Amino acid sequence: MNSADDIKSVAVSGAGVMGHGIAEVYALNGYPVWMMDVNDELLRRGMGYIKSELKTLIDNGFTTEEEADKALKRISTTTSLKEAVEGREFVTEAVTEDLKLKRRIFSEMESYVSEDAILASNTSGLMITKIARGLKRPDRVIGTHFSVPPHIVPGVEIIRGKKTSDLTFKIAYDLIKKVGKVPFVVKKEIDGFLLNRLQLALNREAFYLVEKGVATPEDVDICLNSVLGFRWATVGPFRQIDSAGIDTAARVWKYLLPTLANYKKTPKMIIDKVAKGEYGMKTGKGIYEYPNIEEAYRKRDDGFLKTLKVMKTIWK
Ligand SMILES: NC(=O)c1ccc[n+]([C@@H]2O[C@H](COP(=O)([O-])OP(=O)(O)OC[C@H]3O[C@@H](n4cnc5c(N)ncnc54)[C@H](O)[C@@H]3O)[C@@H](O)[C@H]2O)c1
Repeated sequence: MNSADDIKSVAVSGAGVMGHGIAEVYALNGYPVWMMDVNDELLRRGMGYIKSELKTLIDNGFTTEEEADKALKRISTTTSLKEAVEGREFVTEAVTEDLKLKRRIFSEMESYVSEDAILASNTSGLMITKIARGLKRPDRVIGTHFSVPPHIVPGVEIIRGKKTSDLTFKIAYDLIKKVGKVPFVVKKEIDGFLLNRLQLALNREAFYLVEKGVATPEDVDICLNSVLGFRWATVGPFRQIDSAGIDTAARVWKYLLPTLANYKKTPKMIIDKVAKGEYGMKTGKGIYEYPNIEEAYRKRDDGFLKTLKVMKTIWK
C-alpha cells in the first residue's frame, strides 16, 4: 500500500461509544465497513446508535436520507475478529481501554490482515509503542484518536509510536483528512497525548472551583461555553496569548500559578458519583439530571452540529 487511495475497505473492532461512531464516519465517506464486537446484542445496540445519529445528521442538513441509507448498507456486523479484519486495508481498534486486551487484539488482528494493512488504535492515552510491543510489524501501528461523538467532532489526534513508519503515518493522516476530519499530530508519545492532558488540566481546576464553593457547576460551564470555548473555536492558547499581550499574561501567571489546583488524586466529587452509579448522561444522572436520555444526547448533538456548521465556514 502506497497511499490512502489504496484503502478500499475498513474494519472497526469494538462497537461501543466510540467504535460505532468511527464505523459511521467511514461508512458515510463511502467505505465498506466491518464492525465487530463480542456479541450480537452489542452490535445491534451499535447499529441502533448509528441509525439515530444519522437521523440527527439528516435533520441538521449534514447528509440526505439517500446518503444515510447508502451508509447504513455499507456497514456489516460480525462477532468474528477474523471475518471483520481479513482483507481490510485499515483497521481501527476501539475496544475497552485496557492495555492487555488491546495487545491481545492487535496480535490477533496482525495474524489475519495482509502484509501492508494498517492497524490503528483509538486509545485515549495508552502508549502506541506499548500496544505494538511484541508484534511482528510495529511499524504499521498508529493511533487515530477520535473524540466523542466521533461522527461530529472534527479533530482527530494522530499518534506515532516509536516504531511507526513514515508511510503508516502518511497514509493514516491522509485517510483522516479524506473522511473530512481535522488531523493534529503527537510527534512524541506522552501519557494522555495532547487532548486528554489539556482537557484534564482544565477539568481539574473546574472541579476544584466547585469543591471549594467558588462557583456552581452551571456557572463554570457557562464561563467555558461563553468565553473560553467561544474563543478556542478560533484561537488556541498560543494565538490567544499573542492577541492578549504576553507581557500582561506574564504578570497574571506570576501571581495566579501558585494558587491553581494541583490534585494528584481524582476529586472526591467524581469518586462519590462513581460510587453511586451516577455516571452522567448514560445513566440519566451525573452532575446534572437527564430524565430523557435519548433526548439529552440528541440535544447535545443538535448543539454540536450547529457549531460545526459555523466552524466549517471559519476553517474553509
Ligand atoms: N468514550 C470516550 O469519550 C472516548 C473518547 C476517545 C477515545 N476513547 C477510547 O476508545 C476506546 C473505546 O472506548 P468506548 O468509550 O467506546 O468504550 P465502550 O465501553 O463504550 O466500548 C468498548 C467496546 O469494546 C468491546 N470489547 C471488549 N472486548 C472486546 C473484544 N475482545 N473484541 C471486540 N470488542 C470488545 C465491548 O464489548 C464494548 O462494546 C477506548 O480505548 C477508550 O479509551 C473513548
